Amino acid sequence: MGSFENLLTTMDNGTLTITINRPDKLNALNKKTIEELNVALKNAEGDGVVKVIVITGSGPKAFVAGADISEFADFNVEQGKALSADGQKKLFDVIQNLTKPVIAAINGFALGGGLELAMACHIRVASDNAKMGLPEVSLGVIPGYGGTQRLTQLVGKGKAFEMIMTADMINAEDALKWGLVNHIIAQENLLTKCNELATKIISRSPSAIASAIRSVNANFQDSVNGFEVEIEEFGKCFATQDFKEGTTAFLEKRKPNFTGK
Ligand code: COA
Repeated sequence: MGSFENLLTTMDNGTLTITINRPDKLNALNKKTIEELNVALKNAEGDGVVKVIVITGSGPKAFVAGADISEFADFNVEQGKALSADGQKKLFDVIQNLTKPVIAAINGFALGGGLELAMACHIRVASDNAKMGLPEVSLGVIPGYGGTQRLTQLVGKGKAFEMIMTADMINAEDALKWGLVNHIIAQENLLTKCNELATKIISRSPSAIASAIRSVNANFQDSVNGFEVEIEEFGKCFATQDFKEGTTAFLEKRKPNFTGK
């Protein structure tokens, strides 16, 4: 997987866990960490052994407490635009469009870029102590890593405006109620819960899951008709070995053995 300054990686039964490891800065996303995440995710995409990716933060306090404020405090307009565009391209869009499922294990504060990171993931599981928010307007900026778009998609316009305008944090219960996270679990069981989800997903067809990711994402792309994408992706499944295996196993009353081909 490579060695990283700000990431720890572990592999277990097809699940790659990436831990963002800057606990003394509450795992704030600096440039180096974004670049390392880009490399780790690209490697994971090309590595046949990796079936599901879990992203979490080190320590009991924070998932990620935002973009590293110390890196952009003196930026001008052009640098600000480049920060947003580069981050979106290198990390947030990469996660969203990865053809392997990415689960955010939110183990504490997920603020600003940290919540944006979690929202770019396909599934979010929060520990019961998690606090989530987009505090950017309290710094005089707006969310720039996709937060205005993905929060609106996840919780709707009214709640997104409230979270962004107040800059307040919400707790895990509210996040669950609002549809921002899929599950809440005691902190000590967070990774176990994510691994259970991963194990279930790993038993399914990887090629069908990749098609499902492309189809669901198409719902959020302007000038793309998601129903048309679904038709294409549905059709493509019929050329896969996984489809033959899945249907044959069903008819033979046995468990399928998918290869992702
Ligand atoms: N960027 C850079 N450094 C950060 C950071 C961020 N987003 N979030 C936390 N840190 C650093 C702090 O500066 C501090 O570093 P120091 O020990 O060298 O001074 C360290 O992480 C610990 O944070 P601290 O603020 O002392 O912890 P706390 O428990 O008092 O407060 C938070 C926790 C999350 C409420 C607080 O750190 C915070 O508000 N962070 C910024 C959140 C934010 O606005 N994010 C959006 C950025 S766009």
